[in-house]
Amino acid sequence: MFIRNAWYASAWGHELTDNGMLPRKILGTSLLFFRKSDGEVKVLRDRCSHRFAPLSLGRREGDCVRCMYHGLVFDGDGKCVEEPGRKGVSPNTDVPSYPAVERHKLVWVWMGDADKADPDLIPDCHQHESPEWASIPRTAHFKANYLLVLDNLLDFSHLSYVHENSLGGSKTIAETRPKVEQTNKGVKLTRWYLGEPGFAPYLKGYERFTGPVDRWNIYDLSTRSNHFSMSSGSAPANTGAPEGKLAPETMVFHSNQLITPEDENNTHYFWTYAHNFALENSELTQALAERISAGFQEDRDMIEAQQLVVNESGDDKMAFILADNGLTLGRRLIEAELAAEAAEQGR
Ligand code: FES
Ligand SMILES: [Fe+2]
Repeated sequence: MFIRNAWYASAWGHELTDNGMLPRKILGTSLLFFRKSDGEVKVLRDRCSHRFAPLSLGRREGDCVRCMYHGLVFDGDGKCVEEPGRKGVSPNTDVPSYPAVERHKLVWVWMGDADKADPDLIPDCHQHESPEWASIPRTAHFKANYLLVLDNLLDFSHLSYVHENSLGGSKTIAETRPKVEQTNKGVKLTRWYLGEPGFAPYLKGYERFTGPVDRWNIYDLSTRSNHFSMSSGSAPANTGAPEGKLAPETMVFHSNQLITPEDENNTHYFWTYAHNFALENSELTQALAERISAGFQEDRDMIEAQQLVVNESGDDKMAFILADNGLTLGRRLIEAELAAEAAEQGR
């Protein structure tokens, strides 16, 4: 089950080349993404209306796509505009199209009620285009249900264990109880680790100061678009970071992570990890992308293995522990939104 009335990040804009076609499954439906000659992005169901051949096996003809089975041609809105050997086209030959917007370097698609597709609801990922931040767009893919990925993000106690030698590096993280709040979009978590003896391992070689560190992770997870928006950082201990006073050598990062269900068993993961200091240091930008990516592979290994065990466990109940308050709230909000959408559609 997926929340459908939401904008989902589905591709990076750079994946859509001028004359290309990008097939990608989102919320269990195979879609075809392409860019028109005026730059506009179009999204069609990747299924010809005639005999259900994938349109992604077709070819671009200007701003249209020709199905290369029996030759029907569709425009960017899914309208069938040509049927070989016939004047006009047969009835019921259009294919579904979906609202799409390119913003903040991402292509967002709306798979729900098209009347509700308000672009103002697109999550804020302005850091991707801001001159005040530097980051590299990255994508991952998990063979797991998206809810297990959201659970992972809503409980950072795993940083102490899954990421012992990468993103975490301190058992304080698992021992710290975060502040958990419900927001109008989802869940907000605030975690401070004060006076840590050093930096997280992934920052090795890029430290801007020596001595003890006040570290933080403060993030929102929107349960609509599955947008995880996190401020994190490392400041010299006892210089006032928790009160908002940032010493000049403080290292501040912002991460956007978009968790988009491919289907019930697979998840797309679009992410950035931006820094707002040493902007000219492209080696740092690259190193962050590589090291965070390695960290996410640690998550992926654990979550994919967890999914296999979940699959064989049927109705067996999981135990709840003290660290679960964030993920419990997140799951509750998602269930409520799924129920509200189902009620609206009389399901
Ligand atoms: S399946 Fe596409 S034209 Fe026949
Ligand atoms: Fe993780």
